[in-house]
This record gives sequence, C-alpha cells and structure tokens, in this order.
Amino acid sequence: MKLLVTGGAGFIGSNFIAYMVQKYPEYEIVNVDALTYCGNADNLAVLEETARYRFVQGRIEDKSFIMDLFEKERFDIVVNFAAESHVDRSLTEPGRFLITNVLGTESLLEASRKYGVKRYHQISTDEVYGDLPLHESAMKFSEDSPICPSSPYAVSKASADLLALAYHRSFDLPVTISRCSNNYGPYQFPEKFIPLMIGRAERNQKIPIYGDGQNVRDWLYVEDHCSAIDMILHQGRCGEIYNIGGCNEYSNLQTASVILEKLQKPESLLTFVRDRSGHDRRYAINPAKIESELGWKPSYTFAEGIDATLQWYRTHQAWLEERLNGEYQAYFAATYPGL
Ligand code: NAD
Ligand code: TYD
Repeated sequence: MKLLVTGGAGFIGSNFIAYMVQKYPEYEIVNVDALTYCGNADNLAVLEETARYRFVQGRIEDKSFIMDLFEKERFDIVVNFAAESHVDRSLTEPGRFLITNVLGTESLLEASRKYGVKRYHQISTDEVYGDLPLHESAMKFSEDSPICPSSPYAVSKASADLLALAYHRSFDLPVTISRCSNNYGPYQFPEKFIPLMIGRAERNQKIPIYGDGQNVRDWLYVEDHCSAIDMILHQGRCGEIYNIGGCNEYSNLQTASVILEKLQKPESLLTFVRDRSGHDRRYAINPAKIESELGWKPSYTFAEGIDATLQWYRTHQAWLEERLNGEYQAYFAATYPGL
C-alpha cells in the first residue's frame, strides 16, 4: 500500500505518519509539504533512515507538480492534512487560506481522480459547523449539523469538504471526510492556545486570554485523532463524514488553570486581551457515529493527554525555542500588541 500524506511536516500530519509507519511495517509513505512557517521536516528526522518513508517538498496547489508526482508514484491512498490552519492568521490573510485549503484540495482531488486512487481522505474540522450556545450542553455537532462557518479558515475548510463530496457524487471518487475537534500534543506550533501557554508560562511571560475566557473547546489528544483516521481509512464508508471528538469540553480559563497548576505557575500570568473577531463561543462533537460504526474510542483522558504533552515539551525545549524565534516574533507582536 502506498500513501500520500500531505502536510506531514506539521503538527497532526507528523504524528499521523509516525503512527502509521509504526503500525503498518509494509506501507510506503510519501510526505508532501511546502514547509511553510509551521512545517518542519525535522519533526520526522527519526524516519530518515526508513526506506519506506520519503519527504518531498512542494505545494499542493501546484497542479503540475502534483500531477507529475501522482504519475510517478501511483498512490493507493491520499490523506490531505496540508492547510493553513490558524484562525487568527485567516483574519489577516484570508486569500492564502483559499489558495492552499480550497485550490490545493481541488488539485489533489483532480489528480486522485485521474490516477484512480482507492481512497481520498480529507482532514477537516468541527469549525465548519460554526459554534454552539455556551449553556446548552446537550447540543453537540453531529455529521448532519448545518455547515455555518464563522472565520475565513472555517469557510476554506467547509469549501474543501463540499468539493470533496462533489467529487464523490459526480465522479465516484472514493472520498471520506473526518471533522475533528481541537487537537493538542507533541509538535504543535506555539501559535495555538495550549503550546502558546506552555511556552510562555515556562518563561514567566503573560498569557493572552481572548475576551472573557469562557469560550469552550472540546480537546482531543493527537494520537487519538490518528487512530480515528486509521480506522476510517480501513473501515470507513466512502461518501461519508465522520466526526471525531473525545467529549472533553473545557472553557479556555479552565484549560489555562490546569496547565498553570501542573507547571506550578501563578494564575496572575493570565492576561485578558481584546477578543478574537468573530470568536466561536463553543465547539462540542457528538462522536456517536464513529464509535458505533467503527468502534473507535479515545484512549487518553484529558489529564493523561495534558501530562504527555507537558512531558514532551519539557524534553523538547530546543524544538520549541526554534519555533519561537524568527517569523514568530513579528507574528506575536502584531497579534498581541502590548504583551
Ligand atoms: P499545521 O499548521 O501544524 O500543519 C500544516 C502543514 O501543512 C504544515 O506542515 C505546512 O507546511 C503544510 N502546508 C501549508 N500549506 C501548504 C501547501 N500549500 N502545500 C503543502 N503543504 C502545506 O496544522 P495541523 O494543526 O497539523 O492541522 C492539520 C490539518 O488538520 C489541517 O487540515 C487542519 O485544518 C486540520 N485540523 C486541525 C485541528 C487542530 O486542532 N490543529 C483540528 C481539526 C482539524
Ligand atoms: P486555538 O488554539 O487558536 O484554536 P481554535 O481557534 O481553532 O479553537 O484557540 C483555542 C481557544 O483559545 C479559542 O477559543 C481561542 C483561545 N485563545 C486565547 O484565548 N488566547 C490565545 O492566545 C489563543 C491563540 C487562543
């Protein structure tokens, strides 16, 4: 079996490749990544000696590059993680999100159709559903919830999903889609909430909390996301969407408190800043479909996942330090003026 994994030098993609290489010794994996500000081929440096893993630098929206690659490699399975993935950046540069997330997906779908891949899997997000009211705890996103994206990021992901479904319906392409809740774990770029907090708390720097800090996210440890994708690839039905989530709903202030307590840092580091524009109030996934149809269950509790994450960042300080330098400094200053 030969897999193309796009965006495999990013957070979830690199965890997924490591998971698949270990679990399926007979699979060949090609990782295509543009190495944007958050991509880092060294995330998979341990696999460099592994003959059945290869890294190729390139952009998914570059159609001639993608077509040549498909012609040469004849992939069985395509898993598309490659994306611009940060909501805040989509508020300042929406066009870039449309190019990568929509046109990039179209380029991969077109090549998958031409070269007859056996499965095209689109990595999507719960953010395509928009948000839920804060105090209606029984309300959760199911696969039938209306698509109602709030940010340019979420719009670009929703558009890519619709395109993938159209390729299934119109061209019979064997497509599956997964929509996951917020991930956390090793190799997450420190623009996202949890690694941003870890990096700043350890340096005794102020931690920005948007608005009133009551927004709720449904957290999933990245390895549990990887196991869900693996199950969908092997047992999922084509044309179907699978929601993935571990039912770990916490307000941002609750999440911040857990992390500060574990790091033995004071809550006085938390600093309320201007709210994110259009900030989604609450996300919550109903994972009943993937649990009942495929037998998926997360194996990490939130406490276990946070411990594993903190341990990873503790033992990978050089990795984090490198990410916090360069372009990140300018990004941080522009996003959090005065902090
Ligand atoms: P990430 O930002 O850490 O990684 C994205 C990767 O894509 C990077 O390695 C980057 O270099 C690469 N990339 C960007 N533009 C590219 C292009 N034009 N061509 C090729 N490669 C390109 O993101 P992540 O958090 O690992 O997210 C991966 C996927 O999972 C995304 O599709 C995202 O929408 C989805 N997702 C993320 C979360 C989350 O909590 N992080 C939750 C649900 C879904
Ligand atoms: P983030 O990690 O950006 O993921 P998403 O917006 O895709 O859910 O943010 C998670 C939550 O944390 C979200 O409600 C926004 C909030 N947040 C802050 O309060 N401060 C920050 O500096 C960041 C990056 C996020």
